[in-house]
Parts: sequence; structure tokens; C-alpha cells
Amino acid sequence: MIYSQILGTGGYLPERVMPNSELEQWVETSDVWIRERTGIESRHIAADDESCSDLALNAAQQALAASGISAEDVDLIILATSTPDQVFPSTATRLQQRLGVPAGTIAFDVSAACSGFIYALDIANRFIQTKGAKTALVIGAEIFSRILNWEDRGTCILFGDGAGAVVLGAADQPGIISTQLHADGRQESLLNVPWGVSQGYEALQGVHGKVTMKGNEVFKVAVRTLGQLVTDTLQTNGMENSDIDWLIPHQANIRIMEATAKKLNLPMERVVSTVATHGNTSAASIPLALNVAVRDGRIKRNDVLLLEAFGAGFTWGSALIRY
Ligand code: ACO
Repeated sequence: MIYSQILGTGGYLPERVMPNSELEQWVETSDVWIRERTGIESRHIAADDESCSDLALNAAQQALAASGISAEDVDLIILATSTPDQVFPSTATRLQQRLGVPAGTIAFDVSAACSGFIYALDIANRFIQTKGAKTALVIGAEIFSRILNWEDRGTCILFGDGAGAVVLGAADQPGIISTQLHADGRQESLLNVPWGVSQGYEALQGVHGKVTMKGNEVFKVAVRTLGQLVTDTLQTNGMENSDIDWLIPHQANIRIMEATAKKLNLPMERVVSTVATHGNTSAASIPLALNVAVRDGRIKRNDVLLLEAFGAGFTWGSALIRY
């Protein structure tokens, strides 16, 4: 039996930090309100000349260096994003040539909003298990600042830009123990960017190409769905909460993370949280949080990690991993 194992992690955050106080200048909000309702204190915002593939490149290079793997040895790139560089080619193929990953290898993007990294990880794991790849680069990279309506205080305070990456390699022990993916398109009106290129470029002007969200309703569905997801994940794998060393949630809102941790009866000390300084970086949030906790020494080899995400679609999913 072949499994996949995380060989190394990487992350990249744009240089510019935007504190809550800056948002007070253009929407009616306050630092106190944002901290209390979301746990966010600041977020990183990409420079005008930075693209999604620029962010991804930095994160990928760091993950390769941490893994001791050269770009020539990567045979699969899966990049999760809702903010690609171009309509086509995919951001993954742009990254392939910029990284120096050999031509002829597999590279594609995945669109599953904030659950994108879990989707990408699941797919990469299946490639490795079925011998379709030996070494995979899995990336979440987003520039949400470009699709925010900076006059909508219900959304513009939440998101930030960044990229996180992992290198997966074939191994004879897990590694990735199990994954779960889910989607339900029935409530797309609660969270979306209501226009896309197939409706014509003109339609993307103004607020039409920007994130809209009924935050309070999304919040309730997210809490309920994630609670169910994490308990299901443990049950399916015959595990107890005490078997989990670290919960690494999608970083949307500290209150959602606290509710999920409570459902698992896990103290917040065992939850990796970066939402205070990253905000919600959508598909990048989980690999960024993982990278932070690996690099600061909290996550050690053999620790059991539970990754979980919920996002537009709705999409949601989990990954249970022995690091
Ligand atoms: N500053 C001050 N007041 C605000 C702000 C703000 N930035 N935003 C909203 N308010 C006001 C509202 O207008 C409302 O006022 P009212 O009572 O006079 O009508 C009041 O605050 C309460 O608003 P709620 O929306 O009920 O606030 P809530 O506590 O739900 O917090 C938030 C809003 C932070 C958006 C929360 O609902 C949330 O985090 N939702 C989930 C987001 C999420 O997980 N998304 C999924 C992933 S994202 C993806 O996939 C792309």
C-alpha cells in the first residue's frame, strides 16, 4: 500500500500589513468590533504588481527547500485558488514553468473557495496512492483583496492575501490517514462572487465582480457543518479527541474555530490560529497556519493533525494526517 506524507511546508505573506484601524477610514467599523466578532487584528495585502502566482511561487520555493526536494523531482502541481492570474492558462501551469518543474508533468487549478486546499490535498493524495505521481506540490494561493468591495463592511474586514504550500511524497506509512470532501450548491446565494467571465467582462465591473456574503447565515451553517464534520472524521477513523494533537481549521473567524474546538472538547491551546494576523486567506489559510506551527516548533513529526475547512459552494472537508 502506498501513502502520501508531508515532506515540508512553506508560506508567503505580502509585505504590506493592513491593521483594523486602516479600515476605519473607509467603512463604518471599529477595531474593537472586528476583534470581538472575528478575532482579526490585521491582514496582509498584496502589492499592485503582485499576482497569485507570485505569492504561490514564494510559498512553493519555501516548501521545496524545507523538503529537500528539487523542482525537477515534482511530478504534480495542484493549486487551489479563487483568484487565479488569468482565465487560462491555469495558475498551476504558470507556476510550473516559473519554478522549473519539468514540462510534461501534471499541473492544474482547483476551485473550491475556502475549502480549496483540502480538495487539492485529497486529489494529490489519490494521485500518489494510485501511482499517478510520486512527489506533489499542493498550494493554496489567494489575492482576495482584488475581489473585495471595500465599501462593504460585512466582507472587506475579513479577508487577506497569502499563499501556503506543502510537498507530498510517496511513503509506506501514512501520512495522510483519511480525507473527506463535501459540497452542497443549494445555498450559493449566501456567499458568492455573483458574476463571472462567462457573463461577459463588462459584468465584472463595479461591485458585480466582488464577494457578497450573508455573514450571519453563513456563520450558523459553518458552525453546524464543521461540528458534524469533525465528529464524523473521528468516528470514521475510530479515533478519540485525545488522539488529535493539533486542530488546524480554516481561518475564517475565531468564534467558528472555538465552536469547532468545543465540539471536539479540545482546548484552544491545541488549535492553530493565525486569523488574528492573517485574516481569512481562503484556500491559503490552512497551509499557511500549518506552516507557521511547523516552523515555530509546535507541530512535530508524528503529531496527528486534523485539518478542516468550510467555504463558498458550500464546500467543506477534512484531512486527518500523521505529520
Ligand atoms: N463593523 C461594525 N458593524 C458591523 C460590521 C463591521 N465590519 N459588519 C456588520 N456590522 C453590523 C451589522 O450591520 C449588524 O448591525 P445591525 O444589528 O444594526 O443590523 C451587526 O453588526 C451584526 O451583524 P452580523 O452580521 O449579525 O454580525 P456577526 O456577529 O454575524 O459577524 C461576521 C459578522 C464576522 C461576517 C460573521 O457572521 C462571520 O464570520 N461569518 C462567517 C464567515 C465565513 O465563515 N465565511 C465562509 C468562508 S469564506 C469563503 O468561502 C470565501
